[in-house]
Amino acid sequence: MKNSLSSLRMFAADLLVFSSILSGAWCQSGLKVSYPKTLNSTSGSCLLIPCLFNISKERENILESSPVVTWRRASLWILYDTVNFTNAHRQKEPVVKVLGDLRKKNCTSVLRNLSSQHSDRYFFRIQTTTFNTTETTAVNINVSDSLAEPDVTVPVLREGEEVNLTCTAPAPCPSQPPNVNWAPALGGDVTQRTQMNADGTQSVSAILKFIPSFHHHELKVNCVSIHPLHRDDRPLLSHKTVILSVEYPPKKTWISVSGSVWLGNNVTLTCQSNANPPAIHRWFLKRAGVEEELNVSHVFSFTAAQNNTGQYICEAHNRYGAMNSTNQQITVPGISFTGFLSILAVVLLLIFALLIIYRRYKEPVRSNGNSPIPHH
Ligand SMILES: *[C@@H]1O[C@H](CO)[C@@H](O)[C@H](O)[C@H]1NC(C)=O
Ligand SMILES: *[C@@H]1O[C@H](CO)[C@@H](O)[C@H](O)[C@H]1NC(C)=O
Ligand SMILES: *[C@@H]1O[C@H](CO)[C@@H](O)[C@H](O)[C@H]1NC(C)=O
Ligand SMILES: *[C@@H]1O[C@H](CO)[C@@H](O)[C@H](O)[C@H]1NC(C)=O
Ligand SMILES: *[C@@H]1O[C@H](CO)[C@@H](O)[C@H](O)[C@H]1NC(C)=O
Ligand SMILES: *[C@@H]1O[C@H](CO)[C@@H](O)[C@H](O)[C@H]1NC(C)=O
Ligand SMILES: *[C@@H]1O[C@H](CO)[C@@H](O)[C@H](O)[C@H]1NC(C)=O
Ligand SMILES: *[C@@H]1O[C@H](CO)[C@@H](O)[C@H](O)[C@H]1NC(C)=O
Ligand SMILES: *[C@@H]1O[C@H](CO)[C@@H](O)[C@H](O)[C@H]1NC(C)=O
Ligand SMILES: *[C@@H]1O[C@H](CO)[C@@H](O)[C@H](O)[C@H]1NC(C)=O
Ligand SMILES: *[C@@H]1O[C@H](CO)[C@@H](O)[C@H](O)[C@H]1NC(C)=O
Ligand SMILES: *[C@@H]1O[C@H](CO)[C@@H](O)[C@H](O)[C@H]1NC(C)=O
Repeated sequence: MKNSLSSLRMFAADLLVFSSILSGAWCQSGLKVSYPKTLNSTSGSCLLIPCLFNISKERENILESSPVVTWRRASLWILYDTVNFTNAHRQKEPVVKVLGDLRKKNCTSVLRNLSSQHSDRYFFRIQTTTFNTTETTAVNINVSDSLAEPDVTVPVLREGEEVNLTCTAPAPCPSQPPNVNWAPALGGDVTQRTQMNADGTQSVSAILKFIPSFHHHELKVNCVSIHPLHRDDRPLLSHKTVILSVEYPPKKTWISVSGSVWLGNNVTLTCQSNANPPAIHRWFLKRAGVEEELNVSHVFSFTAAQNNTGQYICEAHNRYGAMNSTNQQITVPGISFTGFLSILAVVLLLIFALLIIYRRYKEPVRSNGNSPIPHH
């Protein structure tokens, strides 16, 4: 519904423009206006329309005869009744002020007191007592009730290397620029800068200069943009959250052993490390003063034999550095777990047998000691 209405409006506006082209001398005006195709602003704020124009040499004299610039709104209703629309709805039209110096061909204007109902196509119009003309291409003005998210650029973050995080919000109303900031500031400095874009519009950036550390990895940082509004005491707020990814060398490397170490058992050593990007792991084994490299993999598994006894070291490395785990001593006993259990069983049996023999031997002694009836 909204779409079809807006395309109907577009069509109506095209008709309007077409009819204005047809109606005589206007197309011969030699007027050429340049302004952005689209401009966005927010309800309750204002909007600066950057605007420059050229006019043919023959017409240049009109600039001396105090011309008046009006911005003609191309809604469906204007097509039906321009005059009455303008009169009846004056309060509902945005307040327009031309800021540019027309003699310098600068038609930069500001629309104040904007509301979302003002979203429309607007045409530049210049009037003098001798000459009236309307530009045939429109500036599409989009006034919304909410703010778009600020635009954030985050370069690759490497531990210890100073970087700038930039957050940019448009400043459609330069007299009331947004306040753009970063939170938390990560121990860095935030500088604000207003810049002019290629199309003449302005934006405000907050640049956070800081030195990333691995403590900042996966931290959430917000860019907050606060837009003051003249309609309301309450400013509009928008924000964008970024999750930082800091690249750093391995900070911690450790080995975990799964399973108990017995002859013939399968033992898996797993190497873990804290690194970004994730580290590649290499295994070393120190045995009887000899060191050998075992494998390049996350885990190292073996079926325990006595020659697996030794000190295992895992080295984690990524493109920023390497770090070794502490030595993990693995001692493979000369016996399997079942062997151990059998021996244990035999030992227990032996102890049990000894206990019985002991009791048998001790029993009479004990009954001897107990049987005498105490004498009074
Ligand atoms: C206006 O807003 C729309 C939607 O947020 C966006 O796609 C467009 O690039 C904006 N135009 C300008 C000129 O900022
Ligand atoms: C006006 O004309 C000059 C010279 O031809 C050109 O450099 C300039 O870009 C034109 N400006 C506009 C707004 O068309
Ligand atoms: C404009 O409105 C007035 C009164 O409100 C009415 O008399 C006049 O006919 C209207 N003109 C057109 C062109 O509709
Ligand atoms: C046009 O006028 C505006 C408002 O006075 C000014 O900010 C801008 O710099 C001018 N542009 C040029 C190209 O002179
Ligand atoms: C702004 O618009 C409101 C209605 O939307 C109107 O009552 C008010 O007078 C306008 N303010 C100015 C300064 O034009
Ligand atoms: C241009 O428009 C103004 C205001 O609408 C009007 O007073 C003037 O007579 C018009 N001039 C020409 C040449 O049409
Ligand atoms: C107008 O702006 C709003 C909010 O920024 C956006 O959602 C919408 O797509 C824009 N419309 C156009 C036609 O750019
Ligand atoms: C960060 O921005 C500042 C200016 O705000 C600049 O001096 C510095 O060189 C920039 N640093 C990097 C790493 O881009
Ligand atoms: C140990 O692993 C090997 C090969 O993966 C397998 O054949 C064997 O049965 C495993 N032994 C035990 C005791 O789990
Ligand atoms: C050695 O690493 C490869 C993959 O890198 C893996 O498939 C293999 O199981 C590893 N060998 C041992 C003994 O863990
Ligand atoms: C231990 O000895 C066996 C065979 O004797 C051999 O296959 C295996 O690679 C040796 N393990 C190590 C860690 O040297
Ligand atoms: C880790 O230990 C191995 C074996 O001792 C050694 O070759 C390697 O250089 C060590 N790496 C680091 C980063 O200390």
